Amino acid sequence: MKRIGILTSGGDSPGMNAAIRAVVRKAIYHNLEVYGIYYGYAGLINGDIKKLEIGSVGDIIHRGGTILYTARCEEFKTLEGQQKGIEQLKKLGIEALVVIGGDGSFQGARKLTEHGFPTIGVPGTIDNDIPCTDFTIGFDTALNTVIDAIDKIRDTATSHERTYVIEVMGRDAGDIALWSGLADGAETILIPEEQYNMDDIIARLQRGRERGKKHSIIVVAEGVGSGVDIGKEIQDKTNFETRVTVLGHIQRGGSPTASDRVLASRLGAHAVELLLDGQAGKMVGIQQNQLVSHDIKEALSQKHVLDQQMYQLSKELSI
Ligand code: F6P
Repeated sequence: MKRIGILTSGGDSPGMNAAIRAVVRKAIYHNLEVYGIYYGYAGLINGDIKKLEIGSVGDIIHRGGTILYTARCEEFKTLEGQQKGIEQLKKLGIEALVVIGGDGSFQGARKLTEHGFPTIGVPGTIDNDIPCTDFTIGFDTALNTVIDAIDKIRDTATSHERTYVIEVMGRDAGDIALWSGLADGAETILIPEEQYNMDDIIARLQRGRERGKKHSIIVVAEGVGSGVDIGKEIQDKTNFETRVTVLGHIQRGGSPTASDRVLASRLGAHAVELLLDGQAGKMVGIQQNQLVSHDIKEALSQKHVLDQQMYQLSKELSI
């Protein structure tokens, strides 16, 4: 193998740049040429592809976003789109591809694999919702952004003796809500994986007030429903002054944490190792701090599982 390609796709996540750097440097170290595909699968179809050198990935390890840009691409979901993409790669003599992204991006990687094009997936998404890896690139940074925001909200919540509902990202997975809620001592954490009961939430808020608590924090994953609606219901039913903050895309930006930079470097380099070893059709991941790889098709047939022990712990600590 002489020449590989790399793209980032779907929602960006802090640490994607560190992963790009790792792929490029590791590949060049092993005498491979690397081509960057811009704007994800859309750029692949359009042939928006340029050669990357050692210097192309200098001074990016600490930057959020992705220097390759990203996109969500409907056309690549079609057979025609996939064939166009493969033609572009073949035209440039690119023999394998590394895809950094979340579940949608991995579906594209699976399709390329099915068409016989060697592809490796690197999990990059703030949602931490990819099976077969304990962590995805960007999750730790997003978590720290959320915690920083909640700490600040807690100050004003205490001064005004208010209840705060904080909506965080996570359409299908509650990891950001659960981990940030646990790290910030939230009274209640609402996640898409678990049903909630408004009477229980209100009873807990009332118990807290009776005990003299000055503030209450409720973390809601976006997949549960609108934080605004939940906040309104709480205010109406308790008469406690309630405010809502929707954190939104701030969670996707910022300089990656040390943990995300290290994870991205390890996973990016491991993807290249697999290709050098003649392996493809896989995703790389980290499980119990060990680098692992799994068949991408098999991984996509599984569901990310929420850590139930952690969920139980969050409930026990917020009595
Ligand atoms: O998948 C990452 C994610 O940030 C989700 O948490 C969120 O629901 C979604 O992307 C937002 O997507 P968009 O960039 O289309 O607003």
